[in-house]
Amino acid sequence: MNSDKNDKILKFPEGFLWGAATSHFQVEGHPKEIGGSLSDWSQWTKVEGKIFDKSHADDACQFYHRFEEDLSLIKDLNLSAFRISLNWPALVKEDGSLDEGEVDYYKRVLTGLKENGIKTFVTLFHFCLPEKLSMGGGWQNEETAVSFGKFSGIVAKRLEGLVDYWLTINEPLAYVYQGFISGHWPPGGDRDYVAAFTALRNFLVGHSLSYDAIKEHSNKPVSYTLHWRPFFPKNRFSPLDHMVRHYRDQIFNHLFPRAVESGILKFPWPMGGDVIKRIEGEIKGLKGKCDYLAINYYTRELSRFKPAWPLDLFGENSPENELAVSDMGWEIYPEGLYDLLVRQTLPYQTTASGAKRPVVITENGFANMYPPELSEGDWSLKDEQRVNYLIRHLEQLYHAIRGGVDVRGYLYWSLLDNFEWAEGLSARFGLVRVSYPTQERLLRASARVYQEIARNNAIQL
Ligand code: FCB
Repeated sequence: MNSDKNDKILKFPEGFLWGAATSHFQVEGHPKEIGGSLSDWSQWTKVEGKIFDKSHADDACQFYHRFEEDLSLIKDLNLSAFRISLNWPALVKEDGSLDEGEVDYYKRVLTGLKENGIKTFVTLFHFCLPEKLSMGGGWQNEETAVSFGKFSGIVAKRLEGLVDYWLTINEPLAYVYQGFISGHWPPGGDRDYVAAFTALRNFLVGHSLSYDAIKEHSNKPVSYTLHWRPFFPKNRFSPLDHMVRHYRDQIFNHLFPRAVESGILKFPWPMGGDVIKRIEGEIKGLKGKCDYLAINYYTRELSRFKPAWPLDLFGENSPENELAVSDMGWEIYPEGLYDLLVRQTLPYQTTASGAKRPVVITENGFANMYPPELSEGDWSLKDEQRVNYLIRHLEQLYHAIRGGVDVRGYLYWSLLDNFEWAEGLSARFGLVRVSYPTQERLLRASARVYQEIARNNAIQL
């Protein structure tokens, strides 16, 4: 590492994992070879008005066909970990058996990674449901949780030995918020809290069944990811803003992990109503099922009381931003990562028996927005904002580790520009730029910086 005397070099612990994260729907594309049923997300992208830039994920980054080329990129970048998710809708056929072509594809991807000494993280549910299940009520229906448990068992058996870290469900709260409250994602509910909390309960059931099913075939650690957002009162002198902040923090950040720890889903204040009472309560077998803490972190939110919005828990989020933002409008707040690690997630870093649970940052990243049809020019490769975002977050991570938090790895979201759900192909999170018209991959400055970080196991300030 070239450094002049004034530079500070912050070394990470020996064996720290440097990686990147992806999910199948966002990168793979849907070539003809993919058998199995369609997903709710592929249907959703075909509905007019659902995707901001009118794009779809039929091609995405063509990772399905290009993973060998992308594996070379992963190696060139010196990464030691990579996160994928499995295409449940394509893996399970109508009759419930596995699609062997798909199994073979995932075996090739995971074997390729492992042969190169790269640790594999595999997520089993990253937002996409088989259409048959979504038509039957999706996560509203406990049957979906049961099917998810079965799916987890059969894939864990077939991929045994190729997976180092399992993740059952990705960001359950983000999913229920977007799917049932904002309606930006399928199934498109409108502030339907009963549906959201029912889905949440079924996610907990699904996580528990999935955990057990994986453990029958694998002794590797199992967890779920949670999208953590520190919430702040918009006006720190307003008790009502503090109240709204508290609600949101309790629901968005703590409801799920607290339920996993205790085995009981319980709202942090009396919610009333028989329906809610049926949702609350013990979930058999759930207690303590989490082997490591998987944290996704991007931004913070400001909360403001708004009496006219009873259906939004009497508040709104991020009315006006106060810090610099990414093109997604997300405030850049690296200190939030430190605070999460040393304070907010502390109760979940220890098991009931007092053992320490290691932590992995399973997503963290920055987006620019520009239209998918653009492939010309190198302006997007200069990438100063992403480099800055990366370094500032890693600096906070370093301090948290120095402060005693057992963080084992960091997975940047994402390796490649990809299909960013309702934002479509326009929101670019990649270390590597994808020119969609040609599928050409070009390293951004952040990729080169990250390459050095991974090589040296250190950041340079
Ligand atoms: C997370 C999702 C991931 C990606 C990033 C930007 O909430 O898990 O799929 O969309 O945000």
